[in-house]
Amino acid sequence: MKYAEASKFGGPEVLTVVEKETPTSGDGMLLVEVQAAGINYTDIAARNGSYPAIPKAPFTPGLEIAGIVREVGKGVEEFKIGDTVAAITALGGGYASHLVIPAATAIPFPKLLDPALVAGVLVQGLTAYLALDQAQVKRGDKVLITAAAGGVGSLAVQLAKAKGATVIGLASESKVNFVKGLGADHVIDYGKPGWAAKVSEVAGSEGVQVFFDSIGDLASEAFPLLGQFGRWIIYGLRIDKHVAPLPAVAPSVMIGKNLSLSGFNLGINLHRVPSALKELFKSLMDGSLKVEVSKYPLADASRVHTLFEGRKTTGKLVLVP
Ligand SMILES: NC(=O)c1ccc[n+]([C@@H]2O[C@H](COP(=O)([O-])OP(=O)(O)OC[C@H]3O[C@@H](n4cnc5c(N)ncnc54)[C@H](OP(=O)(O)O)[C@@H]3O)[C@@H](O)[C@H]2O)c1
Repeated sequence: MKYAEASKFGGPEVLTVVEKETPTSGDGMLLVEVQAAGINYTDIAARNGSYPAIPKAPFTPGLEIAGIVREVGKGVEEFKIGDTVAAITALGGGYASHLVIPAATAIPFPKLLDPALVAGVLVQGLTAYLALDQAQVKRGDKVLITAAAGGVGSLAVQLAKAKGATVIGLASESKVNFVKGLGADHVIDYGKPGWAAKVSEVAGSEGVQVFFDSIGDLASEAFPLLGQFGRWIIYGLRIDKHVAPLPAVAPSVMIGKNLSLSGFNLGINLHRVPSALKELFKSLMDGSLKVEVSKYPLADASRVHTLFEGRKTTGKLVLVP
């Protein structure tokens, strides 16, 4: 089997492809031939050594896979060779041609679905779906989404629209048209000064009801945009940025407008995954949810990391081993 290994913590150059003997499935396990290994921003943090769940190198990045069962371990009744399964692998290991997973964690998916699309709705799709649900996005809400062209962001735009919200996407200039194509009502380049005034203009006097945030350092500009009963939900941070403190007026504004601030962590929402995935797979099958996938060979893992952290990508990035 082939796999990409981060020999030590560091930049994209620490990722190389290595080979070893393909493992066999032990009791209660499945050997999966990986057809799509999803890439997440969290992999960048892991490679840099700033993701606590992966405390030491060498390690293989990759939090999610979709593929075909090639071997079934003793005691496994629910799966057979040839079944299509996906998995979220909290400790990495996904950037590989094969992976042994506990059968109990395998997620069956319809054979008709492209495994790359399935990977697209695992960590990022579930985060978009469950965090929007936590933010109680409803018809008529104005939802402000950071990194709207990104993995989570591009799905959040579509899911918020499907709930009847008005979506205001924030993206780098080169990605504005991409986000418009996803159905966002307004897209604003947040690399330019004055972007918050533009959001305020399109949000009108009622302001923004939900600030869906993967960045963490836009508080001073975005926080005042929230209208009455506004909800700011934060689910991500950038590894190269500090988290800006809340503006000093925050407590009084929060009281005055009845605002709430909450965090989201997929890892402690796993009990909600089966019903959420059922919905996400259904939306993929009927075409109402589009995952814009860019596929790369496993050998390009290092190059894709360079592009990803350099803000050069849109949508879902997948390695096809
Ligand atoms: N809480 C959870 O359970 C959970 C689950 C999944 C993901 N996350 C987090 O959610 C965030 C989004 O994840 P993702 O995988 O979908 O990534 P992503 O949003 O696709 O990340 C890449 C995009 O982020 C934007 N960006 C803004 N500032 C950046 C910076 N300083 N450096 C690099 N990119 C920057 C860029 O778009 P623009 O150029 O348009 O700004 C870039 O293309 C990450 O922080 C991730 O760790 C959290």
